[in-house]
Amino acid sequence: MKATSATPSTSAPVAHNALPPPSATSNARSSRIAPHSHIKGLGLTSDGLAAPDGAGFIGQTNAREACGVVVDLIKSRKFSGRALLLVGAPGTGKTALALAVSHELGVKVPFCPMVGSEVYSTEVKKTEVLAEAFRRAIGLRIKETKEVYEGEVTELTPAESENPLSGYGKTVSHVIVGLKTVKGTKQLRLDPTIYEAILKEKIVVGDVIYVEANTGAVKRVGRSDAYASSYDLESETYVPLPKGDVHKRKELVQDVTLGDLDAANARPQGGQDIMSVMGSLVKSGRTEVTDKLRREVNKVVKGYVDQGVAEVVPGVVFIDEVHMLDIECFTYLNALLESPMAPTVILATNRGNALVRGTTDIVSPHGIPVDLLDRCLIVKTDGYNREQIGKVVQLRSNIEGLKLGAGVLERIAEEGERGSMRYALQLLTPASILAGLAGRNQIEVEDIKEMNELFLDAKTSATNIGVGGGFDGGKMW
Ligand SMILES: Nc1ncnc2c1ncn2[C@@H]1O[C@H](COP(=O)(O)OP(=O)(O)O)[C@@H](O)[C@H]1O
Ligand SMILES: [Mg+2]
Repeated sequence: MKATSATPSTSAPVAHNALPPPSATSNARSSRIAPHSHIKGLGLTSDGLAAPDGAGFIGQTNAREACGVVVDLIKSRKFSGRALLLVGAPGTGKTALALAVSHELGVKVPFCPMVGSEVYSTEVKKTEVLAEAFRRAIGLRIKETKEVYEGEVTELTPAESENPLSGYGKTVSHVIVGLKTVKGTKQLRLDPTIYEAILKEKIVVGDVIYVEANTGAVKRVGRSDAYASSYDLESETYVPLPKGDVHKRKELVQDVTLGDLDAANARPQGGQDIMSVMGSLVKSGRTEVTDKLRREVNKVVKGYVDQGVAEVVPGVVFIDEVHMLDIECFTYLNALLESPMAPTVILATNRGNALVRGTTDIVSPHGIPVDLLDRCLIVKTDGYNREQIGKVVQLRSNIEGLKLGAGVLERIAEEGERGSMRYALQLLTPASILAGLAGRNQIEVEDIKEMNELFLDAKTSATNIGVGGGFDGGKMW
């Protein structure tokens, strides 16, 4: 990136190529928000009222409107030093609300979910886990103009040659890639390492990609809309055929988080030889991100911001089951809330009055010490009725591409009312497997019945044990 050369390089240990590709980071966290992919926002009207359903959100109107107020506060910078606390039974949409708030704050606003109990690790300090989550919730949007080759892939041919070194088999010597734009086509002869990147990004003919001229980094933009299918809903993004020449200068926007920058710079950056690979395996560990490194990263980031190359995008850190934190973490959390570059903090719990962990006698609402509670705006989530559960199940089955036979929706909604929203949603996937085993591509009521024979919902399970007197007496079976 050009920006580093512009900064005086005396105090910049943060290498520029240290920017990791955003897709390579926090995969585990993105899979955590996958069950909420139908949630696009809070679904409020311009005067802040919640329609019965909007933006994928069904019901829960009070909580949605309250969260809308919080979004306004955040946008007008009147929420710093405070936190939003969501309180309600499991499966009532607390995580969904937190995610919706981050959507409302803008596109590509980082959302960093964690669970209170994640802080307990034998390797990493408790406070360190919190600090890292906060860093992952602060985004940096970097704009830069780069020389690229961009177009729709028309040809992708690896050229093989005998490997002179090993005698075994062949290696790819180069790869021929054809790129097409509205204006013309161009054939590129690229290095084998770029071919690896192409395979990794799963690029095929018909995708629109660009290759950065300096670094050889390959990015898949989407699928050319000439190949658009007729499905109403799918995960693919279709893009138009790029305009202009294949070889051009293009403004690229890269979104990374401070956490990504910390991690990338903590890893030793050796060359290609085997020692440095081994070295990085041994040395790479979470403990390497020190406060010193974070300060260095901050300094470089500030430089970019001052030059107008980058923009800070404060995101949302979501701490679920916050009652699992202990007094030490709560104190640290207070300090983090005060820090100048803090993300929005959303906490969630399903506990009532509880002992604050790490103390022997402090009982407090939601297991949260009062000095933190004082900073919180508390929003309660309500349970759902059968109709609302049915609507959410319908949304999810559309997204997951599942077909529901007659009466299935009603049946699942009924199960959900007995169990919970989450139980209802979780019936979908296994039921579709049962349907598949029966040779159908549509879930039928009998699949749900079979599910009930195979599995128990929590309430039934607990009742069974209650009646049988528990496992220990051996009376249950
Ligand atoms: N009001 C709602 N509208 C749409 N989907 C919802 C709603 N409430 C919950 N969900 C979905 O139900 C599932 C469970 O909700 P979740 O937010 O995980 O509950 P909680 O965090 O309170 O335990 C998720 O897939 C969520 O997206
Ligand atoms: Mg949750």
